[in-house]
Amino acid sequence: MSAAKRDFGSFHSSNVEELISVSEVDYVPPELPADLPNFTNYRADPTSLPSFGLEMKKRHFLLEEECTFLNHGAFGAVLKEALTASQKWQIHIERQPLRFFDRESLPQLVHVVRRLAKFVGCNPTKLVLVPNVTTAINCVVKSLNFKQGDVIYCLNVTYGAVKKLLSHVAETTGAVIQTERITFPLVSKEQIVETVKKSLKAGTRLAVFDHVPSNTAYIQPIKELIDICHGRGVPVLIDGAHTLGALPLALDALGADFYTSNAHKWFCNPKGCGFLHVGREWRDAVRPLVVSHGWGSGFSSEFMWSGLRDYSPFLALHTVLDFWEAVGVDKIRQYNHQLLCSAAQLLMEEWNTGLLAPLEMCGSMALVQLPPHIAESKTKNYNAAELIQNKLYHEFNIEVPIKAVDGKLYVRISTHIYNELAEYQQLATAIKSIQT
Ligand SMILES: Cc1ncc(COP(=O)(O)O)c(C=O)c1O
Repeated sequence: MSAAKRDFGSFHSSNVEELISVSEVDYVPPELPADLPNFTNYRADPTSLPSFGLEMKKRHFLLEEECTFLNHGAFGAVLKEALTASQKWQIHIERQPLRFFDRESLPQLVHVVRRLAKFVGCNPTKLVLVPNVTTAINCVVKSLNFKQGDVIYCLNVTYGAVKKLLSHVAETTGAVIQTERITFPLVSKEQIVETVKKSLKAGTRLAVFDHVPSNTAYIQPIKELIDICHGRGVPVLIDGAHTLGALPLALDALGADFYTSNAHKWFCNPKGCGFLHVGREWRDAVRPLVVSHGWGSGFSSEFMWSGLRDYSPFLALHTVLDFWEAVGVDKIRQYNHQLLCSAAQLLMEEWNTGLLAPLEMCGSMALVQLPPHIAESKTKNYNAAELIQNKLYHEFNIEVPIKAVDGKLYVRISTHIYNELAEYQQLATAIKSIQT
């Protein structure tokens, strides 16, 4: 009997450790349910691919056609076939629940971890699936047993919920949060590198950086930041909520102590799927929030099973991986970035304004300053931003966030393969027509 077909009735968590670490040549993947969507037609005939933009939106996304949807960065948007796949997995499971949970679930979960690990450039024994980045960061932070006086370092651009988590840790343990300020607009990555060089002290227990901060949306120079931290003996946690599918990842080479990303954002997986990558030396220290059958059996086992629940978002990753591989990841990223550059250029010309950060520091999101008639007419705070965002939604059916950064109002545009330039022209015109 192949490893993958082993009976889960006697399937012990130690089998997870064995299956996850077996070499690629010796690994026998389990069979997938036969009726999952696949994209072999695109592989066989790439000319059958819909063109990026509206045609892609109609064919592969559930987004309402009449909505100008420029806010992929908020909650992503699922690939239609991936949602179908997760529903097919649910049906497969319910047709014979014992077969799935006792015999198939762990080998199937190992299989998808192995595939994802290959995609993000790491050894599968270092990567575990989690429901989202929030869970992963909680796991890391709560595993580190902070104590009175320990310093946790971050920047003012850190994601709001993560700042709250760090404050909670500080309140409950006596650790101290050191938050350093990045000011905008940004001219170059040196501003960030220099800030960290000047302020990070040896002895800091943990440094936390967003790879792409949500509100400011530029790509942080994380390789340089990791090197500074490691040069001073400081472990680094990278919050990559916006990276999987948007930026190329080579996690083992990058060398962060902890790296987490979401699959349900730029990768377009059904909601409830992300990963945590943990450096070899931390594998014994990082434990899941939920203790279940795998506890005490090793890093992969501890995270793989967190009680009976719906694992279909994890399993749907096969379909998403199939899609990106069939369409071509580089092609997708190139389209998204080029569209971002053209859209940002268009808005800047229409409004006679500038950017929060140079386009070479951006991937698939950028902040463009609003024109003077809006930017200067209100108190430039969160309420003003919300007012304009609501007007765009209610009066123009345009979904895009407005951000107040350092006293200026910006629109944060996202670009994905279902977007096209005409949509940003609609945004430009709508903003010009808004009287505040
Ligand atoms: C930078 C950053 N970190 C963390 C998160 C949290 O992601 P999730 O809600 O999927 O856990 C987000 C969500 O937008 C984010 O932008």
